Amino acid sequence: MSEVARAEAPIAVRLWEGDNLAILERLANDGVRVELAYLDPPFYTQRLHLRTVRRGRGAELERTQVVAFDDRWSCFDAYLEAMEARIVRVRDVMADVGSMVLHVDPTTSHYLKVMCDRIFGRDAFASEIIWRYRRWPAKTRNFQRVHDVLLRYVRNSKVEPRFHQLYEPLAASTVATWGHTKQLAAFGPDGRRVRSTRTEADSPGVPMGDVWEIGVIAPVARERTGYPTQKPEALLRRIVESCSDAGDTVLDPYCGSGTTLAVAAALGRSAIGIDASAEALTVTRARLAAAGREVAFKTFAVNHA
Ligand SMILES: C[S@@+](CC[C@H](N)C(=O)[O-])C[C@H]1O[C@@H](n2cnc3c(N)ncnc32)[C@H](O)[C@@H]1O
Repeated sequence: MSEVARAEAPIAVRLWEGDNLAILERLANDGVRVELAYLDPPFYTQRLHLRTVRRGRGAELERTQVVAFDDRWSCFDAYLEAMEARIVRVRDVMADVGSMVLHVDPTTSHYLKVMCDRIFGRDAFASEIIWRYRRWPAKTRNFQRVHDVLLRYVRNSKVEPRFHQLYEPLAASTVATWGHTKQLAAFGPDGRRVRSTRTEADSPGVPMGDVWEIGVIAPVARERTGYPTQKPEALLRRIVESCSDAGDTVLDPYCGSGTTLAVAAALGRSAIGIDASAEALTVTRARLAAAGREVAFKTFAVNHA
């Protein structure tokens, strides 16, 4: 498909309910290929994650807690085994130009990085992104834990992967010296860098680094669904914009409240979401319906597909 035809193709959002292991195998057998897979699996918290459901208003307001998902494991090895089986299947549905972004925390990221090096090859490692957030300080005699880790791997290190450079604002000191115009790096006859020259063109900013400061979702934010562990849309926007084109397909096999799917559809990408929790899919469906997107929306139950 040409780039223009791809960008103009209608967006489809497909949701699957069930264990992603079986569904990913089915997608691979059906020949599905995705340009971006974002995985936000359980973090081995050894906890049951609950969602508070509110019904009614004012004095009639009723709050009940329902199980969103279970992150309790018999042991850490069982967690790692489950992750490995699923990452292998994600790799099987990735297009040659595709990337996988695995969102984990510092207690597991080193194990999973070694595992992904083995699955994709060390050459396929592209980035370790630190998502730095601010939150209410925890009571701990330790440094506050204020970051997650996002590991990006490409499917095929011999192929140019989808990637769009993002920019962040120029540093105040750069603006003070150079203003907002682009500078050209200049080199002397010996090949060494000399003082840059100023151009008339506006600078797009500094190419984005791998430490991202993005706030957690505020309690009153419109995007808040009440689903535990929901990730901010601003975080997903960066990932989707940088690692896919309009018209591509984005996969989230742990879609939870549907953040990735909502962002992907808003940016003109098709999306495939999978979750084993009926609660998650109820939230996701309501979220996409509220966004009123013209999306071909289907729910498949793995047993009747
Ligand atoms: C950390 S949450 C994802 C949150 C999501 N990124 C969001 O913004 O709402 C992890 C999700 O993975 C789902 N999950 C865990 N194991 C799964 C499996 N084997 N197959 C499918 N979904 C699974 C859970 O039900 C849960 O909704």
